[in-house]
Amino acid sequence: MLDQADGYVTADGRQIGPVVMEMQNITLRFGGVEAIKDISFDIREGEVRAIIGPNGAGKSSMLNVISGFYVPQEGQVLYKGAPRPAMKPFEVARQGIARTFQNIALFEGMSVLDNVMTGRLTHMKTGMFSQALWKGRAEAEETENREVAEKIIDFLEIQAIRKTPVARLPYGLKKRVELARALAAEPNLLLLDEPMAGMNVEEKEDMSRFILSMNDEFGTTIALIEHDMGVVMDLSDRVVVMDYGKKIGDGTPDEVRNNQDVIDAYLGVSHD
Ligand SMILES: Nc1ncnc2c1ncn2[C@@H]1O[C@H](COP(=O)(O)OP(=O)(O)O)[C@@H](O)[C@H]1O
Ligand SMILES: [Mg+2]
Repeated sequence: MLDQADGYVTADGRQIGPVVMEMQNITLRFGGVEAIKDISFDIREGEVRAIIGPNGAGKSSMLNVISGFYVPQEGQVLYKGAPRPAMKPFEVARQGIARTFQNIALFEGMSVLDNVMTGRLTHMKTGMFSQALWKGRAEAEETENREVAEKIIDFLEIQAIRKTPVARLPYGLKKRVELARALAAEPNLLLLDEPMAGMNVEEKEDMSRFILSMNDEFGTTIALIEHDMGVVMDLSDRVVVMDYGKKIGDGTPDEVRNNQDVIDAYLGVSHD
């Protein structure tokens, strides 16, 4: 089923499209450390693609390659069929790619709403010069950005804290605000680095629900890194498993769960 070029329909009736991103033989080094060793895999339109593996496996590095933040020494990334050059963060955003970080990166002194509004920056077309000339247009744009931000705040059920400074929020809610900001950019591809790390069971359930309905309602393609195997199995269509920079598994949650190399890596079997 997975070799169908145009996509396929999942068991629960979701439409998965063609490949949008292809990692081809990626090797990434930091000095003498090989963080990623000759890894290839793809991401399809509309899918929830998980990257899992023990600490230090190279998952965050891989997400940074996907986002265009790191350029690998070997191999190439194809985005919508074209090789992707090195990009600045704002160029990445313009391509419809948004992300959250393993360590929360919000403006702590600003309100939730203002933080979410910063996610709209790439959609602001009116510069200062034209703002002076076209006051009306700038105002219309501001109104539209605010509407999108409010819509996402409603969607993620954080209306009650929209005026609260982020610094005053508990950890789980900060993670949700970070997700809101990423979503405010209306991305085609959303990259989440451990969106549920440090959360309690209830918070994880909420986050899982939001990720799934985001995928469902907005058609957002999602690549996420997650440690909790249960969460990964529930959420994802396909899973890449990394260990010591190598890919040791790739397939549906069931395929990966029954892969002996994956079982060994998770049980901490020695690798020498
Ligand atoms: N910026 C960096 N500079 C040097 N080494 C790095 C850097 N980022 C990651 N590494 C190294 O690359 C390896 C993979 O790290 P990382 O991608 O963060 O793994 P994971 O997210 O799976 O825990 C580790 O050995 C880590 O120390
Ligand atoms: Mg990491």
